[in-house]
Amino acid sequence: MIDIHCHILPGIDDGAYDLKTALKMARIAVKDGVQTVVATPHCYDGVYNCQRYDIGGLCEEFNVALHEQGVELTVLPGAEVRLTPDLIKLVERGEVVTFGGQDRYLLLELPEIFIPEAVFRVIKHLQLSNTRCIVAHPERNTFVLNQNNIIDGLIFAGAELQVTAGSLTGMFGKEVKLLAQQILKTQQGRCYLASDGHCVAKRKPILQKALKLASRLVGVEAATDMVSIDLSRKDRLSVISCQH
Ligand SMILES: [Fe+2]
Repeated sequence: MIDIHCHILPGIDDGAYDLKTALKMARIAVKDGVQTVVATPHCYDGVYNCQRYDIGGLCEEFNVALHEQGVELTVLPGAEVRLTPDLIKLVERGEVVTFGGQDRYLLLELPEIFIPEAVFRVIKHLQLSNTRCIVAHPERNTFVLNQNNIIDGLIFAGAELQVTAGSLTGMFGKEVKLLAQQILKTQQGRCYLASDGHCVAKRKPILQKALKLASRLVGVEAATDMVSIDLSRKDRLSVISCQH
């Protein structure tokens, strides 16, 4: 399994507090069956702004620490990128960290209070430039919860969706759980399950429990696809999306 959304890099955002905690998170992930984690610290969110760090370099250092400790986990660079007015320019200038630095996938965090029309244009523009936006946990977004047609708009624009494992297990309440289930059922092949892990307590980097629930909803094969991603190839939905 790959976990495409996890705040595992130590000491740079509201995720792992220090290296010791990050290593504990890594051990928890491995025990849960995760082989690869995309480290996704907050960028351009006005609070943590981890884009100022060398995320690729920090991942390399962390992978060395994992190897030294005998933890069989690979950590790839990524980021949880808040939508900003100049996002397209930032991506074009190579200032946004994409999954594995390969420009294929970008984890996009939507604004919480209001989602402007521009979001759809940005997603479409990036997709046409071969960078697929994966929208982070739309089921937890207040605006999306109140206007479900936003999901259709995101998909139509070319986005994929990342549902958080804890949303499926009920960690964020009934309303969020219901929308998570609905997304999984209606957007098979367009969505991923990820932990959005932050620590070793409540928000652990685990997927297995949610994967079992997802398997009951959509079947084992479709659920397994939700914890897999091929970062080296053109993504799996380009043909479907081009039909819109
Ligand atoms: Fe996150």
